[in-house]
Amino acid sequence: MLSDRSNDIVTIRAPAKVNLFLEVLGQRLDGYHDLATLMVTVGLYDTLELKEECTRDLNLSIVSYPQTGARSDLQALSDGPDNLILRAAELLRKQSRCASGASIRLHKRIPLAAGLAGGSSNAAATLSGLNRLWRLGLAEAELSALGAELGSDVPFFFYPPAAWCTGRGEIVEPIQVDHSFWIVLVFPPVGLSTARVFRALQLPEGTIDGKALCQALTKGDLDAIRSGMHNRLQATACSLCPELEEVLEKLTIVAPNGTLMSGSGTTCFALCGDREEADRVIEHLTMADWNSGPPRTVLTRACVS
Ligand code: C5P
Repeated sequence: MLSDRSNDIVTIRAPAKVNLFLEVLGQRLDGYHDLATLMVTVGLYDTLELKEECTRDLNLSIVSYPQTGARSDLQALSDGPDNLILRAAELLRKQSRCASGASIRLHKRIPLAAGLAGGSSNAAATLSGLNRLWRLGLAEAELSALGAELGSDVPFFFYPPAAWCTGRGEIVEPIQVDHSFWIVLVFPPVGLSTARVFRALQLPEGTIDGKALCQALTKGDLDAIRSGMHNRLQATACSLCPELEEVLEKLTIVAPNGTLMSGSGTTCFALCGDREEADRVIEHLTMADWNSGPPRTVLTRACVS
């Protein structure tokens, strides 16, 4: 995670992720599901500014940008103690027996309930940034283990730009990647809660292996990456959200090989060979006839640190 320190302020970028592959291997006794997933960072970032306080207070303020998108079916992001940023700060303080306080300002650009792990990325950035601000000296592996207590996707963000993640998502194997790719992110107007999608999922009878996709990613073989992409949650999420189904239908027409939903949705993406292809995807979506208005798109890169 890119961070910068000047005087008593640490500024840190928290990237979004997409899943190029997500298979559900089974349900566990603790209610979670065992997964095998390939996650990569994308160039859409929240920014956190962390400032040391002379009291023990932990404060969070949120600056939302218009593109964060109001999600009509879910509550707005809380700036109270249930926010993952404040939970991460409290956990780190408890673990390190630190008595310091901090004011945290979050510049929120990653949409909520979008399958991009914005909240998890914020939590990882908080652990990393406060470790620096409070000069605690914890190793990345220790921060990552703390992150796993906050959410299944949090540990991944200590190992950008790509990793193969198993368990409930918290067991992270970094993947060597020297390439980045053009990607078009497409945001349907409605979000979905991860828990709701997992609750509605019918477990598959057979599972798909994604290891070949990891090798294709290391080689930078875009055709092999695109043909190996898979998301077991996609059909379930579509059954819960017609707006998502419409986005995938239209994306598949213009980018038949590189289109997928990320995580538990609702963000969809098209992985593109070059800038021209990405521009064509956006133009197609802009010109298409939509039941509920054209979705917002972001053109960026996948596999960026
Ligand atoms: O770990 P996290 O808090 O992000 O998970 C949110 C919810 O998603 C969990 O409460 C659970 O319902 C579901 N989930 C799951 N299996 C996973 C990850 C998440 O069932 N591996």
